[in-house]
Amino acid sequence: MHQSELNGQKLASLALDYVQVISPYVIGKPIDEVAREFGLTDILKLASNENPLGASPSARRAIQDLADLHIYPDGGGFALKAAIAHAFDWAPVGIILGNGSNDLLELVARAFLAPGRNAVFSQHAFAVYALATQATGASAKIVPALPATHPTMPYGADLTAMAAAIDDHTAVVFLANPNNPTGTWVEEAQLRAFLNAVPPRVLVVLDEAYSEYVDRSLYADGRFPDGLKLAREFPNVLVTRTFSKIYGLAALRVGFAVGAPAVIAMLDRVRQPFNVNSLALKAAQAALGDHEFIERSRAVNAAGLEFMQAAFAARNLSVIPSMANFVTVAVGVPAGLVFDALLKEGVIIRPLGGKTDTGGLSCHIRITVGTQAQNERVLVALDKVLAQLRAEVR
Ligand SMILES: Cc1ncc(COP(=O)(O)O)c(C=O)c1O
Repeated sequence: MHQSELNGQKLASLALDYVQVISPYVIGKPIDEVAREFGLTDILKLASNENPLGASPSARRAIQDLADLHIYPDGGGFALKAAIAHAFDWAPVGIILGNGSNDLLELVARAFLAPGRNAVFSQHAFAVYALATQATGASAKIVPALPATHPTMPYGADLTAMAAAIDDHTAVVFLANPNNPTGTWVEEAQLRAFLNAVPPRVLVVLDEAYSEYVDRSLYADGRFPDGLKLAREFPNVLVTRTFSKIYGLAALRVGFAVGAPAVIAMLDRVRQPFNVNSLALKAAQAALGDHEFIERSRAVNAAGLEFMQAAFAARNLSVIPSMANFVTVAVGVPAGLVFDALLKEGVIIRPLGGKTDTGGLSCHIRITVGTQAQNERVLVALDKVLAQLRAEVR
């Protein structure tokens, strides 16, 4: 073994125990690499819940001028915070910006979690909750989700069980609404009952990365909870949002959280001074005001979601009812095999299961809702590979 490699391994063994045992986040293959490997030109990526319409046109225009690339960004994000404050009627001192909302989840972990403390979240939750928790040496209390046979919300978060799992050492609860990778959601009445049951000393992170996709009528009739309204009533609620999904700015990495100013001040202490770059700040501000694009994205997604759910029902494939911009479907064969076979067809999806799965979804795949043409293409490819795989299994 080469001397430098030996040193590397020795050093690695000195990393904190709780860091050594983390299962790394599995990064999908880049489009260019898939194209090269399989000799394909037209790759369709429906693996990361990005916006199939691209970025908000206003945002694209806002970052055409690159004259100031040598200047550090505004570390306080003054203009973007002012725009968010205006859009959501929230005081700027109660807002923090992140390098994606992922950054904000990590800031929460760094500020509130440590060995001896724990974070509570549901089975089938967003993978970053476990990663951010483990990186601090805190333990993750993963609460079994509602059963696959649940009449209205199969695989959804079981809020009653989550409230019961909170103990004296719990510092944080993570809850995505709607959730990724299941698309499931919690209703206003259930969430309110949960928040009333949670001790006020526990910070509840309400991750609303996909909330803009939710059918507006559910907000209007009070069935889908408005996180910002709850954060006004419950000072221990922190709402996180992202510009990566409906605003179409995933590459720029920008998100925000709103909550009690005193909580925001703690997150600010552990934040990198320039965590959000200048282009992201400008693009996000423009995207926030691009109502036409947001409405169009929502409408395309709603139609696509309906189309995909109906298409799977027609194929007798069981879909988890989704309120987000993706569908998770049981394919009856191991998800990894379907992923590999679809790659050869030039289609990238997300296989569930794998190392970070906490059980039960190893034959499910998650497909981002695309444009109508993209949705049709993934269905044709899926029909083909499932027919092949089933023939092989037989
Ligand atoms: C539930 C949920 N929260 C947060 C994120 C993080 O998104 P970003 O860091 O791009 O804002 C994602 C991304 O897929 C997500 O699915």
